[in-house]
Amino acid sequence: MTAIITGASRGFGRAIAAALVANGNRVLGIARDRAELAAVRDELGEEFVPVVGDATDEALAERLLSEHRPELLVLNAGVGPHLGAVHEQTWETFTVNWNTDTRQAFVWTRAALRQPLAPGSVVVEMSSGAALKGSPLSGGYASAKAAIRFISGYGAEESARAGLGIRFVALLPQLTPLTGIGSLAVDGYAARAGVDRETFVRGLEPVLTPELVAKAVLQVATDPSSAAEYVVAGAGLKPLDR
Ligand SMILES: NC(=O)c1ccc[n+]([C@@H]2O[C@H](COP(=O)([O-])OP(=O)(O)OC[C@H]3O[C@@H](n4cnc5c(N)ncnc54)[C@H](OP(=O)(O)O)[C@@H]3O)[C@@H](O)[C@H]2O)c1
Repeated sequence: MTAIITGASRGFGRAIAAALVANGNRVLGIARDRAELAAVRDELGEEFVPVVGDATDEALAERLLSEHRPELLVLNAGVGPHLGAVHEQTWETFTVNWNTDTRQAFVWTRAALRQPLAPGSVVVEMSSGAALKGSPLSGGYASAKAAIRFISGYGAEESARAGLGIRFVALLPQLTPLTGIGSLAVDGYAARAGVDRETFVRGLEPVLTPELVAKAVLQVATDPSSAAEYVVAGAGLKPLDR
């Protein structure tokens, strides 16, 4: 199988790339930082193909989909939200996740349906547990991640209407201190709660690891009867009713 992962250089994306390569797949991994992608290539070998670029770039999405015809797309790229209460945000800081996380999900979902990908292909979209509960210190992050759930659902609906056979699955991981974006948020929410980082992290146990997120991606990618959405927690996967 050929897979494309957006945001493959760190955190969840890097772990997903490692798990896919370990299972005999070829992975094209997209991120903006060339050196970090090169480090992933050094670690995973030639079945990991680094693609330096911006995941919100429509032309890049269209070119990679038509040249490589991936059977799996993992739309994972995202930026850290500007941490601050709503009145401490500006419109620009409030919308950062809309302009990266949601935009890349939209761009690749659109391209996957318009090309279209081959029947049996799978698109996994990285939302967040914050889409269910909100995240009052993260500006528009929760709403941007909720929009990704909708985009995944719309993709599934259009795939069914046109008989394309492309499966769409949204994952909603819980907060974890073990990646860049999660670690910043943990510090912010611990300070807001007036506790130290260790105390706050104890409240997240069992802690979600990038390896568990990777396992979840492999599981839903290879299960044709998967649910449309899952919460991904340290304790495992929980399907959501749509
Ligand atoms: N960690 C958590 O607790 C948590 C919980 C729920 C959901 N999530 C979601 O899971 C995803 C991964 O999070 P993470 O914690 O693993 O983050 P991370 O460690 O900061 O990694 C983010 C990845 O996205 C890439 N990226 C960012 N903007 C990009 C762009 N415009 N084009 C291409 N690549 C881009 C980064 O590389 P470059 O910067 O080099 O481009 C990096 O590879 C995010 O969508 C996040 O919102 C995380």
